Amino acid sequence: MTTEHRTEDPDEAARRLAAVSLAADDPTGWFERLYAAAADGAAVVPWDRGAPHPLLVEWAARREIGGRVLVVGFGTGFDAEFLAAGGAATTAFDISPSAVAAARQRFPGSSVDYRTADLLAPPPQWRHAFDLVVESMTVQSMPPALHPPATASVAGFVAPGGTLLVIAAAASEDDTGSIGDAGAGPPWPLSRAEVDAFAQDGLVAVSVESLASVPPWRRWRAEFRREQAGATP
Ligand SMILES: C[S@@+](CC[C@H](N)C(=O)[O-])C[C@H]1O[C@@H](n2cnc3c(N)ncnc32)[C@H](O)[C@@H]1O
Repeated sequence: MTTEHRTEDPDEAARRLAAVSLAADDPTGWFERLYAAAADGAAVVPWDRGAPHPLLVEWAARREIGGRVLVVGFGTGFDAEFLAAGGAATTAFDISPSAVAAARQRFPGSSVDYRTADLLAPPPQWRHAFDLVVESMTVQSMPPALHPPATASVAGFVAPGGTLLVIAAAASEDDTGSIGDAGAGPPWPLSRAEVDAFAQDGLVAVSVESLASVPPWRRWRAEFRREQAGATP
């Protein structure tokens, strides 16, 4: 007798959860449902790589990481742990309380300050407060109409003299990533214009790379910097 096991693809399962949230006009509600189901062994977090993002590791290898670091939408916590291991005072936040609980359980004794917070309504004291801000695939996990406020919020975290690193899936060249195209995701990959939009509120682009990645995605890796207060150009 043959038994057929059908295991749903984690990306498909996530999209199914997201579709329910989107239909209920709650575009970020599915993250908590996903992490809670994962804690019960009923789901797999699709972005659980079990390691920091290779594009972050490669980027960090060319720099000294220190000071105050903020990881946006930390997910599984591997990026935050990687940055904290280098000695940075690291805060990491996610909208999902279950993600926070999972990270604290996964990394007992961690120096990372894991917090529950919403990128769309962050604590005011985080404004211009971090020397390095890492945003990896959080803006793209929300529908395109939320990209502008999410992008503005990310940019606002960077302190004078600080750096922002953005890692994101790249919209294909014939896809403008136009606002209102909420049907296809998640994710909703970023267009070049959406990446350039992180250069606001005094941030300037240092580099914007378009890198080959696992098909069908290309990835953006972009770095921005805020001038020191009082610095002459
Ligand atoms: C695609 S995952 C990426 C996770 C991680 N940054 C990475 O690169 O693997 C998006 C993450 O952002 C979180 N997230 C989504 N919307 C958020 C929001 N408005 N505020 C804070 N976190 C959010 C989700 O819970 C999820 O953990």
